[in-house]
Amino acid sequence: MTTEIKGVILAGGLGTRLKPLTDITNKHLLPVYDRPMIFHPLEKMAEAGIKEVMLVTGGNNAGDFLRLLGDGRQFGIRRLQYTYQKGEGGIAQALGLAEEFAEGQKILVFLGDNIILDPIKPFADSFRQQAKGGMVLLKALDDPRSYGVPVFKGSRIFRIDEKPAKPASTYAVIGAYFYDPNVFKIIKTLKPSKRGELEITDVNNAYIRKGQMQYGVLNKHWADAGESLESWFAANLLMRDLSKK
Ligand code: DAU
Repeated sequence: MTTEIKGVILAGGLGTRLKPLTDITNKHLLPVYDRPMIFHPLEKMAEAGIKEVMLVTGGNNAGDFLRLLGDGRQFGIRRLQYTYQKGEGGIAQALGLAEEFAEGQKILVFLGDNIILDPIKPFADSFRQQAKGGMVLLKALDDPRSYGVPVFKGSRIFRIDEKPAKPASTYAVIGAYFYDPNVFKIIKTLKPSKRGELEITDVNNAYIRKGQMQYGVLNKHWADAGESLESWFAANLLMRDLSKK
C-alpha cells in the first residue's frame, strides 16, 4: 500500500441544532471568531501534508462552498473536489460518497465542525506507517456524554459507545478519523441507528472488532463548534482568546 493519504471533509447535514443561524446558510460557513468554520479542517488537511481533498456537503447552500473555497489552492490543497449528500443519512453515509475519490488510498476524514489545535502531522505520519486498519483521536473531557466514548480493556479500546448516558471513560472520540480503504466495504454493511443514520461509531466498532483500531490522544484544545449554540459560542471565545496569545 502506498503512503499517500487523501482527505475527506464532511460538511453535510442540516445544522438543525444551530437554528435559526442555519436557516439561510450552512453550519460550516458560520464564522468562528475571525474565520469561517470550514477553514479549520481545510488548514489541518494542508498541515497533514494532504494534497487531494473531497468536501461532502448538502442542504440549500452548497454553492456557497465553491464561492468561498474555490479550488482550495489558497489553503495549499492541490485538488479540492466537491460532492453532494441528499438528506441527512449520517456521517458514515456522507463518507460513503467519497469511495471513488479515494481510489483505494488511505484517508483522513474530518468532521467539518471540529476544531483541533494539536498538530495533526505526527498522527498522519504515524498512520502512513500503519499497515492496515484505522486510527481515532481522543480528547479527555469533564463530560463526554455528547460524543462517542471509548470503553477500554487495559490500554486497548474495546468498544466505542455513541452518546452514552453513563460514559465508561472520560474520553471523547473526536471528529478526525484515519481509515484504510476497507472503510467503504464496512460502510456497505451498516444499518441505520435509532436516530436513522449510518453512524461513524459503527464503522469504528467494526475496526475494533477486527483488532485493527489504533488511537492517539490530543493534549491541546479541541472544539466541536456545531454541537449546540453553546458549543459554537464557546468555540468563538476560544479562538478569540488564542488569537491574543
Ligand atoms: O464531534 C465529534 C462527534 O461527532 C463524535 O464524538 C461522535 O461519535 C460522532 O457521531 C459525531 O457526533 P455528532 O452528533 O456531533 O455529529 P453531527 O451530527 O453534528 O455531525 C458532525 C458533522 O458531520 C457535521 O458537521 C456535518 C457532518 N454530517 C453529519 C450528518 C448527520 C454530514 O456530512 N452528513 C450527515 O448526514
